[in-house]
Amino acid sequence: MKAAVLHGINTEYQYQEFDKPAIGEDEVLIKVSHAALNHRDVWIQKGQYAGLVFPIICGSDGCGTVVEMGASVASDLLGKEVLINPSLNWGNNPKTQAKDYVILGLPNHGTFAEYVKVKARLVYPKPAHLSSEEAAAFPLAGLTAFRALMGRAKAVAGEKVLVTGIGGGVALFAAQFAVAAGCEVYVTSGSDDKIERVKSLGVKGGANYKVADWHKALAKETGGFDVIIDGAGGPDFAKLIDLCKPGGRIAVYGATAGTWNPGVPAKVFWKQIDILGSTMGTDEQFEEMIDFINKHKIVPVVAKKFGLNQCEEAAKYMDEGKQFGKIILEIN
Ligand SMILES: NC(=O)c1ccc[n+]([C@@H]2O[C@H](COP(=O)([O-])OP(=O)(O)OC[C@H]3O[C@@H](n4cnc5c(N)ncnc54)[C@H](OP(=O)(O)O)[C@@H]3O)[C@@H](O)[C@H]2O)c1
Repeated sequence: MKAAVLHGINTEYQYQEFDKPAIGEDEVLIKVSHAALNHRDVWIQKGQYAGLVFPIICGSDGCGTVVEMGASVASDLLGKEVLINPSLNWGNNPKTQAKDYVILGLPNHGTFAEYVKVKARLVYPKPAHLSSEEAAAFPLAGLTAFRALMGRAKAVAGEKVLVTGIGGGVALFAAQFAVAAGCEVYVTSGSDDKIERVKSLGVKGGANYKVADWHKALAKETGGFDVIIDGAGGPDFAKLIDLCKPGGRIAVYGATAGTWNPGVPAKVFWKQIDILGSTMGTDEQFEEMIDFINKHKIVPVVAKKFGLNQCEEAAKYMDEGKQFGKIILEIN
């Protein structure tokens, strides 16, 4: 089969022949129609990810058709279009993932290929209102956003929610989910254009984090936030503590801008703020996310499409950070 393969740190994605996966008895083989990129696929390429193995077919997001099922799989999904839950081996504790938890696309070969194999319990029928390319945009980023917003921060209708770095895949889903849940949503971005564009999805407004003291104007405009969903970290984290209302929650899922400033601990304890770490999500949360997407007919924003043979260009595009929405690979 054809695949986009990484052979080492700081090498390019190679479009090449690779062995088609052989399935185990509890697995299914999926002919991938579309995959989507996550920042993870760039961190792996740069060697900035734990547990590196090479050669590796990256890719955690995929939608495709079940073309083969293992002997013990009792399912009616053969020939059906499905979405893959990339959260492998979460385990039994809803509070945290198991020690052997991994994400599809490292160390297991992922979706940047014509075929991928996964456990049968991790595939779900594609939502009917979505095209295959739209469905492929959801799994990793959608699950991360859903757990952070609903599972950890427990946002409810009427609350004010701030989502940082709206150009990010997780951030955009968090904003879309929060709007659908009836929250009043604001965003930050380094691009005024992205703040304007996201308003068409129901977001009220935002602030450009490249402007000095951006948080002061936002605090004046909104009165602060009940919930903040942050994938950036970095020196501006202290500003998020300022922006959080007393009794508010900050869910943290990423660190694109690096380590936190020391900040002022008294602001956290005096305001009784909950700072909540969040990573991916449970199998139940993946199902809940699909139900939520179906119920609210949520459609992702697709930034740009590339062919499987253009995976390197797609990774460079993501690394530049200019995208608004998900970057899709068209495969079959
Ligand atoms: N814990 C988990 O389960 C999990 C899952 C997925 C991702 N992550 C992590 O979450 C982060 C985002 O991932 P992604 O795939 O959504 O990445 P992405 O699509 O590449 O998003 C990166 C975005 O970060 C924003 N950003 C950059 N510098 C910023 C700053 N100083 N302040 C605020 N925002 C800033 C930019 O938004 P603008 O373009 O709007 O400026 C940029 O578009 C990454 O660090 C990733 O490793 C964690």
